[in-house]
Amino acid sequence: MPYFNYLDNELHCERVNINTIAHDMPTPFYLYSKNGLTENYNKIEAAFSGIPHTICYALKANSNLHLLRLLAASGCGADVVSGGELFLALKAGFPPEKIVYASVGKTDAEIQYAIETGINAFNVESGQELEAIHRLAQKAGKPANIAIRVNPDIDVHGHPYISTGKALNKFGVDIEYAYQLYETIRQTPLLNPVGVHCHIGSMIFDMEFFKASAEKLRDFVEVLKSKGIELEHIDIGGGLGVQYQNPIARTVDGADIEETPSPDPADLAASILPVLKPLGCELFCEPGRSMVANIGILVTRVLFVKETKGKKFIIVDAGMNHLIRPCLYGAYHEIIPLVARKGKFETADVVGPICESSDFLALDRPMPPVERGDLLAVMTAGAYGYSLASNYNAHPLPAEILVDDVGYEVIRKRETYDDLLRNIA
Ligand code: LLP
Repeated sequence: MPYFNYLDNELHCERVNINTIAHDMPTPFYLYSKNGLTENYNKIEAAFSGIPHTICYALKANSNLHLLRLLAASGCGADVVSGGELFLALKAGFPPEKIVYASVGKTDAEIQYAIETGINAFNVESGQELEAIHRLAQKAGKPANIAIRVNPDIDVHGHPYISTGKALNKFGVDIEYAYQLYETIRQTPLLNPVGVHCHIGSMIFDMEFFKASAEKLRDFVEVLKSKGIELEHIDIGGGLGVQYQNPIARTVDGADIEETPSPDPADLAASILPVLKPLGCELFCEPGRSMVANIGILVTRVLFVKETKGKKFIIVDAGMNHLIRPCLYGAYHEIIPLVARKGKFETADVVGPICESSDFLALDRPMPPVERGDLLAVMTAGAYGYSLASNYNAHPLPAEILVDDVGYEVIRKRETYDDLLRNIA
């Protein structure tokens, strides 16, 4: 189902006209499709139905509590990377036995919290971290479940900031060292070797990379087995790519956009299950973007339109403080009007109000005619949108709205100026 569509020239989410929401709500705001979330989750669930599995949603993509509650209630697990995410996961109702915890930099307090909680696995990223977990497990008198995060040295040829599986990335440990760590774990009564973890990067479209990573994990697990160490699960991480060129944009701009369709979770399963299933382990995966990117948009209003020496700027009320992806990764997000208008397209930069030249949502983009006061939707903004937003330039954080068929609710209020004073000592 397309969650966003034009009906009578006006952009709808499911069956709700987004213009009517924008009439009642100050912009900018994030807006998500509830049924889109359920559909994305069900698709991933179904893809792995042929093997015992746990889908651990990567909270970093979007950690709104309402979305988390929906996922937890559907039986989904959680991948967390901080004490704060663990707190949110527990609040949302994810059972500890379905929570895995990665991060190269876990503090003692965070480790202690996770040991007390009894999570499914620490995805451990260094020898010193393993020592710290052991020391804190002794202190708590409680065991800790361990999966070492191995770095398989696979280059997924993506943006360098979101590639994680190359030998010189900070993540995980190399495979030879990982063997030594499992030997240590074997000899340490409070540490349980439950699994092995790997995450090679994000925005991956070629399933061969996942296959290569699965093969390295398979070989690793087989060698461990021959040494008498049997693991219960293999965690292949997240990383499935998502198409940011939104096909509905074509209905308004007719632009010739090069499309890279989102891979289907079934393609991922087809590439790795033949490799991993024979091992008889449970499969864990950690999708983030592929669960939430296409169910969310950022709605913004045009403040001003100006031209400087032949260059056109569309100045909107959302900026890098709301959606940092264009500025940080040069990421492409479709930007379309809430009310489609006919007229000549003109090339423009769509920029925010922040005092930085890097504050843009699109550069040199063919845009339909827009006027001061018009509403625009920045598409495919459900992942790594709000979760990377900040109060830079003292802008209050925006609201988040959840659409469900014909209705909607505010699932996070817009901040007020008073919120800018919170925690001031
Ligand atoms: N598991 C681990 C250990 C991760 O580090 C990540 C993402 C995921 C799972 C989820 O990956 P996904 O399925 O979302 O690709 N801010 C960047 C993306 C950073 C990804 C960080 N790690 C962006 O906006 O593109």
